[in-house]
Amino acid sequence: MSQRWDELLKRDHEVTEQVFAAIEAKLAAAEGPAPALVGLLVDYMHYVDHCHNQKEELHLFPRLEAKGMPRHGGPLGVMLQEHERAREILARLVPLATAYAAGNRGNLAELRSAFGEYASLCKDHFWKENDILYPMALRMLGDTEAAEVVAGIEAVEASLGAGTRERYYRIAAEIVGQAELRDLSYGLERDVLAAILNTLPVELSFIDHEDRVRYFSHEHGEKIFGRTRGAIGTAVQNCHPPKSLHLVSQILADFKAGRRDVAEFWIETGGRMVHIRYWPVRGDDGRYLGTLETVQDVTSIRALTGEQRLLSAA
Ligand SMILES: [Fe+2]
Ligand SMILES: [Fe+2]
Repeated sequence: MSQRWDELLKRDHEVTEQVFAAIEAKLAAAEGPAPALVGLLVDYMHYVDHCHNQKEELHLFPRLEAKGMPRHGGPLGVMLQEHERAREILARLVPLATAYAAGNRGNLAELRSAFGEYASLCKDHFWKENDILYPMALRMLGDTEAAEVVAGIEAVEASLGAGTRERYYRIAAEIVGQAELRDLSYGLERDVLAAILNTLPVELSFIDHEDRVRYFSHEHGEKIFGRTRGAIGTAVQNCHPPKSLHLVSQILADFKAGRRDVAEFWIETGGRMVHIRYWPVRGDDGRYLGTLETVQDVTSIRALTGEQRLLSAA
């Protein structure tokens, strides 16, 4: 089955975020990234501006405008302004990155700053589109218009040559591969680990040592407590109602001070018993790395009696 327009555009966002993570990791190192890696980044950034953004500007946004979403002001206006702002940053970033790729490693500090600005603008922009604009657009556009957006996406890609998306996704994979983000034990690939975490009968959320939301599992599945990707990067204090803030602060303070190893709650909601626990996550050296939240529907576990030793029907 062919993909929907929003799936195609979100996949672009996801691949681009992986590229950003790889480059950020290399830029953070004292010696900076290898020039060849930055050369690949220059190639890839062309895709974001000249392909991804064009798909939206030429084929998605005009259809939303035709459906009554104003071009100025409102979400559409914000998206267009951010595309423009990204172009302004790129006008500075691309020459810096091109010079670095050619061997001028003296501009590393400027490159770090310009790339940081670009990546943070794009990441913020992507979540606004994923979580706000695209869901609105899905409600506004009918089947015919949705199919036209898909055709438009394909046309923009074709205008840049055959197999454009595949070509740029290969560049992205090359960047991610070259960045050699640290492997997990036994060569477990990150995609597999992510799938394992999404298979657990427990929903996970993780906040880092600076109290910022960094991860949650089961993004595409049904969750006990809804989470959107927009939460990533925000302070955990902004994700909780004011009345429970003092509790969150108390737990985090206890974890950071090493006074507590778990904080446990259970609530009844929608006929289910939900078990919520918070765990301090510490590195091998005991350093506090952040806090893990586990949320589990334990209704059926609490109802277990006797034993089940034989395989039940599938
Ligand atoms: Fe956009
Ligand atoms: Fe986008």
